[in-house]
Amino acid sequence: MARRIYFFDTTLRDGEQAPRCSMNLGEKVEVARQLERLGVDVMEAGFSAASPGDAAAVKAVAQAVRGCTVATLCRAVKSDIDIGWESLSQAASPRIHTFIATSPVHMEYKLKMKPGDVLERAISSVAYAKKYCQDVEFSAEDASRSDPDFLCKVFGAVIKAGATVLNIPDTVGYSLPEEFGRLVAYVKAHTPGIEKAILAVHCHNDLGLAVANSLSALLAGADQLECTVNGLGERAGNASLEELAMALKTRRDLLDFECGIQTSQIYAASRLVSQVTGVKVQPNKAVVGENAFAHEAGIHQHGVMAKRETYEIMTPESIGIPKNRMVLGKHSGRHAFEDRLKDLGFETQGLDVDGLFASFKALADKKKTVSDRDIEAIVTGARKSVPETYSLDRWVVNSGSSLSSTCTIRLRHAGGDDKEEVSVGDGPIDAAFKAIDRIVGRDLDLESFELDAVTGGEDAQGEAMVKVSYDGKDWNGRGVSTDVIEASILAYIAAINSMEWELSAAGEGR
Ligand code: KIV
Ligand code: ZN
Repeated sequence: MARRIYFFDTTLRDGEQAPRCSMNLGEKVEVARQLERLGVDVMEAGFSAASPGDAAAVKAVAQAVRGCTVATLCRAVKSDIDIGWESLSQAASPRIHTFIATSPVHMEYKLKMKPGDVLERAISSVAYAKKYCQDVEFSAEDASRSDPDFLCKVFGAVIKAGATVLNIPDTVGYSLPEEFGRLVAYVKAHTPGIEKAILAVHCHNDLGLAVANSLSALLAGADQLECTVNGLGERAGNASLEELAMALKTRRDLLDFECGIQTSQIYAASRLVSQVTGVKVQPNKAVVGENAFAHEAGIHQHGVMAKRETYEIMTPESIGIPKNRMVLGKHSGRHAFEDRLKDLGFETQGLDVDGLFASFKALADKKKTVSDRDIEAIVTGARKSVPETYSLDRWVVNSGSSLSSTCTIRLRHAGGDDKEEVSVGDGPIDAAFKAIDRIVGRDLDLESFELDAVTGGEDAQGEAMVKVSYDGKDWNGRGVSTDVIEASILAYIAAINSMEWELSAAGEGR
């Protein structure tokens, strides 16, 4: 009989901690709901002790999600575990995930601790977490570069202290598949009490081997795969959830495991994570890339037309991309629009479908055809995952080749105090951002700014991604419009609204 294995998703923690991948609280809850629909067994909602904002997000996810276990990461220190439990305690099925490094290089240079002290800390942290929570995961950070016997000793001791899950991270993505499988088998064979625990692996992708290493670990006896949607994560990322799930489904002949993943939710999850983080999926990304099911060469097209299996090992429908979609345009009705929203994985219940349909009609008047990407952009643009402290009323720019650009902008304030400012700048976007800075009255830094087209074609919508920093913290914003200056202004305001919301929670709002 096939062995049941578990998917532990860490998009909201390891994924979110990667550069430019931050999400605000509302976005995290939305991603968490999609992960629940996707069927993950466990989701790691964040690192509660990192900041009050992280703790609030873990708490919100723990309250929103009922269908799977919610975990939070804690260093092996009491204060982290206290904060972690405080944010997790309302989860239907909570898990405290505590970790400490066990490799010589981490113990000596990062922790400045002797192996015996690391062992004691691991035991005392698990015992402390156990007072709060029945389900405790222990990770030996940098396990793949640790001494295997020391690793087994630590694991055996934390099992005695109450750990229910033991995780072997390949923290720096250093292992090769055969070697990593051997380590898993060694741990299984030499850890006292291991049969009572779930054995997990957490692979990073520095050498592009995270998925291969995870599969090798499964074959060697691992029970839980830690992964992220779109492979987000520190540096080169984590093992990609969609690649693991589709490898299991497609190669069931060799990978005889059961899991809870609903593969038809993969595409919606991938799109949602890409939209809220603003991190685009590379076109040739396995499973979810734009080209993953595209056949360009004539010989391939001919083969696929004659028999799909000649060049396709899985179908687009199996990951939730519906077949033969009608093109939508200005004559499309509300029903067709709503059906498309559902096909794209949006939960229409929580959406203002009438408002979205009006935006769709307005766009269809400007563009010949409205693509799925355009529709996603409309929904994302309308998504108010944080309250709008500021919203755009109107703007005008004056820009040319020889004079400085100027922008006059008027913003509405939620408190009713609307403001207008004018500024000059190096180009229209700089002028607009400076005018907004004057209205907001904070010393903001623009960390990054990206402008892209939602689709190809002359009439494509512009999509801007902005990251601002204030007081050592970053916030992202995204804006979409048929006018690239307006898209940029909307993105800048969205980032400011995320910031104001967090600052107001800390009593510093405007
Ligand atoms: O990569 C890693 O080692 C981690 C642990 C904290 C599980 O993310
Ligand atoms: Zn990691």
